[in-house]
Amino acid sequence: MELGLAGKTAVITGGSLGIGRAIARELAQEGVAVAIIARDAGRLDAAAAEIARETNARCVAVPADLTDAGQLAAAISKAQAALGDIDILVNNAGATPMGRIGDTQDETWMKSINLKLMGYMRCARLLTPAMRQRRWGRVINIIGRSGHQPRPNYITGSAVNASLLSFTLALAAECAPDNVLVTGVNPGPIATPRWDTVVSQGAADMGRSADAENAAAISTVALGRVGTPEECSGLVAFLCSDRASFITGTNIDIDGGGTRCI
Ligand SMILES: NC(=O)c1ccc[n+]([C@@H]2O[C@H](COP(=O)([O-])OP(=O)(O)OC[C@H]3O[C@@H](n4cnc5c(N)ncnc54)[C@H](OP(=O)(O)O)[C@@H]3O)[C@@H](O)[C@H]2O)c1
Repeated sequence: MELGLAGKTAVITGGSLGIGRAIARELAQEGVAVAIIARDAGRLDAAAAEIARETNARCVAVPADLTDAGQLAAAISKAQAALGDIDILVNNAGATPMGRIGDTQDETWMKSINLKLMGYMRCARLLTPAMRQRRWGRVINIIGRSGHQPRPNYITGSAVNASLLSFTLALAAECAPDNVLVTGVNPGPIATPRWDTVVSQGAADMGRSADAENAAAISTVALGRVGTPEECSGLVAFLCSDRASFITGTNIDIDGGGTRCI
């Protein structure tokens, strides 16, 4: 399928690892010039160099801590200075820890809100005005199923993700008249460094081994396995393309059939 993405530009937050890295690589493979943002500059540089080498596309590394509004704004400016107008924003950087109401302090809540809710909102607020002026743009928010299937032992993530489901629909309605399409993507369990952390935190909470925790998570997935970052990136590349030109204002689960609700 020809996606028609060649020549576009994209910012992918959390593009050095896991789902974000796979999305950056997939878009670069389609001829998109990409800027990836994360904190660890060494890992980010290595990812950018590898993506550029593997795809022959431009991949710029912009280190920043996206919980910090000043660093976030500077990172977006650097991406624009390097690539010009940005056509596609993939909001993906998130790191909310597992935890129940009794063991999550204000600091955990504020850090999670600052990174995922405020980080996604700030990137969109900075980048969508120019997209709207040019009457073409895509915002993809990588969220998570806990937004509509809340879990007591992931209470911060559940609340933050629920707010992003709503944010996605409101932003989509605002931007639709200018052909800027906004979609949320809710991954189920996906094999990334974060998934390993989630499994070990969940195992500690449930008092069982990591293998038992992993098996319990997989038992909720109809396809009976954890997904891959590349399965997520294929969906995101499609949503970014003109083949998805009538999709906006919705949240899509990519979870191997793990969410069963109408
Ligand atoms: N994997 C899953 O099963 C799963 C399921 C549902 C939802 N999700 C969501 O999908 C997204 C990606 O998850 P993943 O599994 O790919 O995570 P991951 O493997 O942990 O990668 C996270 C990326 O975000 C960056 N990052 C973390 N904190 C940051 C900060 N303060 N500022 C800038 N960058 C930051 C990381 O780099 P640095 O550490 O160097 O900053 C890394 O590039 C997250 O929003 C997550 O909640 C994942």
